Amino acid sequence: MSILPIVTYNDEVLRKKAAPITENSDNLQKLIDDMFETMYNGSGVGLAAPQIGKSLQLFVTDADPMTEDDDDEPKYGKLVFINPKIIESGDEKATYDEGCLSIPGIRESVTRPNEIKVSYLDRELKEQTATYSGWMSRVFQHELDHLKGVLFIDYLGSFKKRLLKTRLNSVVTGEIEAGYPVKPKN
Ligand code: NI
Repeated sequence: MSILPIVTYNDEVLRKKAAPITENSDNLQKLIDDMFETMYNGSGVGLAAPQIGKSLQLFVTDADPMTEDDDDEPKYGKLVFINPKIIESGDEKATYDEGCLSIPGIRESVTRPNEIKVSYLDRELKEQTATYSGWMSRVFQHELDHLKGVLFIDYLGSFKKRLLKTRLNSVVTGEIEAGYPVKPKN
């Protein structure tokens, strides 16, 4: 397994619509393993393929570090989502701080539906459905956005965005130390 460099927020691959995956392969399985290693190395709870420069509908998650102190939150461990979709969103909304391995050093609160029903293919390309709420729902929605070319900072108001501009520039110039391998786009 290898740790892959993570692209930063201004890389155009993060703005593309990712392509669906149509067949399994040794390369796909290796990519999934490398993505888990890359995610854990960055202390992330989710990582989408565009973040390592591959415009594919694939993300991996392990939201357990977010919920380890909360016995009420279910523990899912490592999950792989291929060609994922939200089938249904609940009316109730929740607001929490989010970060992103492609935008190191920045955390801002984002409002999203609390409960979602989803469909996806697992790493054996078997069809699955699930219902998530709380942290797992949030991580899923954040990562699914990556496959559509959307970043969490897109949800911020224009005033907040203006305040963040200098810090976002420091991500690109490398002034903000990510603590894991990144591939800044200059
Ligand atoms: Ni992200």
